[in-house]
Amino acid sequence: IRDFKVENEPLLSYLPGSKERQELEAALKTHAAQTEECPIIIGGKEYRTDDVRYQVMPHDHQKKVAKFYHATPELVKKAIATSMEAKKEWERVPIGDRMELFLKVSDQMANEHRAQLNATTMLGQAKTIIQAEIDAAAELVDFYRFNCYFGKELLKYQPISESPDTTLNLMRYRSLEGFVASISPFNFTAIAGNLAYTPAIMGNGVVWKPSDTAVLSNYQILKIFRDAGFPDGVVNFVPADGPVFGKAVTGSRDLAAINFTGSVPTFQWLWKAVGQNLSQYTGFPKLIGECGGKNYHFVHPSAEVESVVSSSIRSAFEYQGQKCSACSRMYVPESLWPQVKEGLLETRKSLKMGSVTDFDSFMSAVIDRNSFDRCHSYIEHAKAGPNTTVLGGGKCDDSVGFFVEPTIVQTTSTKDKIFAEEIFGPILTAYVYKDTDVKSMLQTVMEDTPYALTGAVYSQDETFAKEATETLKGSAGNFYMNDKSTGSVVGQQPFGGAKLSGTNDKAGGPHYMLKWASPQSVKQTF
Ligand code: ALA
Repeated sequence: IRDFKVENEPLLSYLPGSKERQELEAALKTHAAQTEECPIIIGGKEYRTDDVRYQVMPHDHQKKVAKFYHATPELVKKAIATSMEAKKEWERVPIGDRMELFLKVSDQMANEHRAQLNATTMLGQAKTIIQAEIDAAAELVDFYRFNCYFGKELLKYQPISESPDTTLNLMRYRSLEGFVASISPFNFTAIAGNLAYTPAIMGNGVVWKPSDTAVLSNYQILKIFRDAGFPDGVVNFVPADGPVFGKAVTGSRDLAAINFTGSVPTFQWLWKAVGQNLSQYTGFPKLIGECGGKNYHFVHPSAEVESVVSSSIRSAFEYQGQKCSACSRMYVPESLWPQVKEGLLETRKSLKMGSVTDFDSFMSAVIDRNSFDRCHSYIEHAKAGPNTTVLGGGKCDDSVGFFVEPTIVQTTSTKDKIFAEEIFGPILTAYVYKDTDVKSMLQTVMEDTPYALTGAVYSQDETFAKEATETLKGSAGNFYMNDKSTGSVVGQQPFGGAKLSGTNDKAGGPHYMLKWASPQSVKQTF
């Protein structure tokens, strides 16, 4: 493998008249005017079933952007067999060559396909331009580039041979025995692309179930890989009903790993299914998952109010609160609450919500009707509940798109469900504590939810900052001091949560590639 370095993909500015803006506008126009057909792809062949589905634009739900098909159990089984077959050749391709292909695809994605990936993510998943750019343009290629880089560094490691003349110790990294089932979420095109394709860097074959609400952008990823010469059958694109897909992959003796991002109940369902089928597997499947969160911003009395306000607004409301890392519970001391509250409410009023094709929109619609209904029911709960007051927002209008206003709620109980449960929408709830309770509040932060994905503490008091960092160690896989809970960058803040938030395998980190490899220690004595 040749030695190489990687850097994070720079974000483009999309100023009016710029080349990138023109290309993006053209791509938006094309994709908005059509319903792209996205067939099931197994071994490079297209399949269609009678179970026809459509992906609509969340911000304009009469418009269908993609037509796709749910696979039958037989087709999922076919995809499994195909990935196993394709892997035989793929894993024999030297890893350096596999990496070169990924690096080539990354460059193409960052250049000639950037507009296509951004436009399909914007229209299909209701991301504003800036949110699409950090996801489908930057994070996606960052994943591939950094995973190749970290993979290369991993392969460099060789153990010590005490007497190199007579004994040689080696480490070799093979692919996993079996196939990888990847089940990806709607909220990041980058996460979908990482879940589906990264295991293949180490020589694995993959059966990929994209989210029904992200089929369009995810299909573009597949097309770009295919057109760049990625071999058919190594990654198979299989939209399907969740339980149908889950039963087929956990029911296969060759299951090597599940690469999952989604809800806690679904991940628990997969663990149970694997447990029930354990005796039939050829090995022990690895289960790698990122699940829910109820991420916090904790404000100390010494915090800078302006930064608390602006970063809480961004963390809670960018992408409509649908980042797994979004802040949805805040702890604010009584002494700062009047300023923080005023700041949040004033800023909230200035947030523009609308279509993603209006480049001034700060927010757009939530992903689908389920999400709209869920947000709505929490808002109704907040309006009626004895512990809660809606301070701003709280309006929903689904006549054109699934729009939910950014909503700020105050609660008098950290046990209230709006403060404890994951909502995955633009609802931020604040709990106001007595300044004198500040230390004991840290323990409360730990205990208020079963999750540990992301969290942030705002404090200019260094002693408290240190204490909080120590006490809150188990509260978040990604912990921030004086910065928002969202926006982790590949290679800089490896991402993943503990407790019910997942198996904390840290996508975008140096150890992630080990998940997709089966290392072999070799001792040679002469
Ligand atoms: N990288 C994403 C974030 O931290 C998940 O918001």
